[in-house]
Amino acid sequence: MHDGRPSFTSMAVATIRALYTDLPAPFAGARDPIAAALVPRPLSLAARLASRAAVTERATALVHRGLGLASLGMTYHVALRTQAIDDALRESLARGVRQLVVLGAGLDGRAYRMDELADAAVFEVDHPSTQRDKRARLRAARIEPRAREVRLVPVDFERDDLGTSLAREGFSAEEPSFWIWEGVTIYLTRAAIAGTLGSIGAASAPGSRVALTYSPPRKPRVERVLLAGGHVIARALGEPIRGFIEPEDLAALGRDAGLDVLRDEGADAWAERYWSTEYEGIFEWERLAILERRAG
Ligand SMILES: C[S@@+](CC[C@H](N)C(=O)[O-])C[C@H]1O[C@@H](n2cnc3c(N)ncnc32)[C@H](O)[C@@H]1O
Repeated sequence: MHDGRPSFTSMAVATIRALYTDLPAPFAGARDPIAAALVPRPLSLAARLASRAAVTERATALVHRGLGLASLGMTYHVALRTQAIDDALRESLARGVRQLVVLGAGLDGRAYRMDELADAAVFEVDHPSTQRDKRARLRAARIEPRAREVRLVPVDFERDDLGTSLAREGFSAEEPSFWIWEGVTIYLTRAAIAGTLGSIGAASAPGSRVALTYSPPRKPRVERVLLAGGHVIARALGEPIRGFIEPEDLAALGRDAGLDVLRDEGADAWAERYWSTEYEGIFEWERLAILERRAG
């Protein structure tokens, strides 16, 4: 991350959510009506133009597939992963959880779009530069939280102590919590992933859950070649890709932190669940693991 500059990748994924919020069925994603207000105007305009072109079922499929192809499936991936995480969060809220921590929150809109959070405190953790930009955009668009309260917690996962920063903002390690770490681990070193999982485990009451996306290392040659291009772009944007991790390795790091994997699934499962289709992306960008803090 460039100091002083908001995260570009957070704008890119919010733009995809803005597009899929307006795209008609059967390809709608998680509804994020504030996403368009949080990204720079050229991006929100592009999302609006693309969704306006989807006037018939055939045109919708064309927009959906055209952007999916151009982005090597990234647009499918983001629309689906946000929906899968929303559902996991709703499950925990229905079980009485009242604390949500969003790690690397970027332009995450959940605190501002989900009525189910009305009794919950939301802790948005990110670099201060991304938080400043988001706060200004929320204010300009007069968007108010739906959550009971929203606390901004400035943290660099590579440097800062997450537990101490959260406690300072009123987070309680005695109460159950839900943690979202969406689209972030790929930008972190293994040490930061392991350290953050340790902090999550230490700050989680039994029954707390973590929804975490991660990228397994690429094996097929074609994927490695495509990804090399991604590395160049990401580095130029100041957000280099670093954190590939095998499912078994992630499960072991979780176990060490007192967190057991409940589910681990990829975009093929989400596409079947939400769009009743096969996943058509060129490759699987990330998987979603749901972990639970074990008792004791
Ligand atoms: C691709 S964006 C995802 C944003 C959001 N979770 C979403 O899915 O919309 C990656 C986010 O991770 C944050 N991030 C990356 N490295 C970080 C670090 N070392 N410490 C704190 N946040 C970091 C960026 O600021 C950015 O908001």
